[in-house]
Amino acid sequence: MRGVWAVNRSKAQFFNSQVGEPWAAAEYTAEERRKIARMIDAAGVRPGMRVLQPGCGTGRLTVILADLLGPAGLVVAPDISPEMVAACLRRIAGRSNVRLMNTAIEDLDDDRDDFDLVICHNVYPHFDNKREVTKKLASLLRSSGKLVVSHFMNSAWINDLHRKTHPSVLNDLIPGSEEMERILSAAGFRIDVVQDDEQGYLLLATLR
Ligand SMILES: C[S@@+](CC[C@H](N)C(=O)[O-])C[C@H]1O[C@@H](n2cnc3c(N)ncnc32)[C@H](O)[C@@H]1O
Repeated sequence: MRGVWAVNRSKAQFFNSQVGEPWAAAEYTAEERRKIARMIDAAGVRPGMRVLQPGCGTGRLTVILADLLGPAGLVVAPDISPEMVAACLRRIAGRSNVRLMNTAIEDLDDDRDDFDLVICHNVYPHFDNKREVTKKLASLLRSSGKLVVSHFMNSAWINDLHRKTHPSVLNDLIPGSEEMERILSAAGFRIDVVQDDEQGYLLLATLR
């Protein structure tokens, strides 16, 4: 995926500037915790699983996953923003089942890691080439592994926010349902669940 780094560099600068903002750093509200619990339940997160979490940000979800997965499990968390990675490192506070890296998902080592699950929470719109990244995520999953794309708000709300927030994320949109179906199908996924309503956005897909 040549050429993505220039795009990701400007996004990384933007996300560096956001690291202390409440949307990125504040502890989850009760409502957000409820939505995270719903997503985790739908994804079937269990102790011992190997989970890839691209775009970990300051690590609020990363610590929840690490504690659920336990010592036999693993969270691999690449993020393009060095400031986000540093904040995540502080938040995970020595947990040994988290592998953090300042890397774009596009540049993650291609070695098969046989992940059970990929969780793209608040990050999928930021993938510049969604077709290629989704194929890459499929290649990193074990057979019948699952992909989650989730947001606390629905796609209309998220897309409107990104259009208004900053030039570097202006075009970072959640694809419409038909485009999402095409992207996932081309990567070998079957969509199990899509909810895009007042509860937020939650897509669950299984690698065929
Ligand atoms: C909107 S923030 C969400 C952070 C975190 N998931 C959360 O919910 O608080 C998106 C994060 O994804 C990272 N990111 C964006 N594009 C990425 C890419 N291609 N590969 C890895 N990380 C990426 C950004 O640096 C940022 O930390």
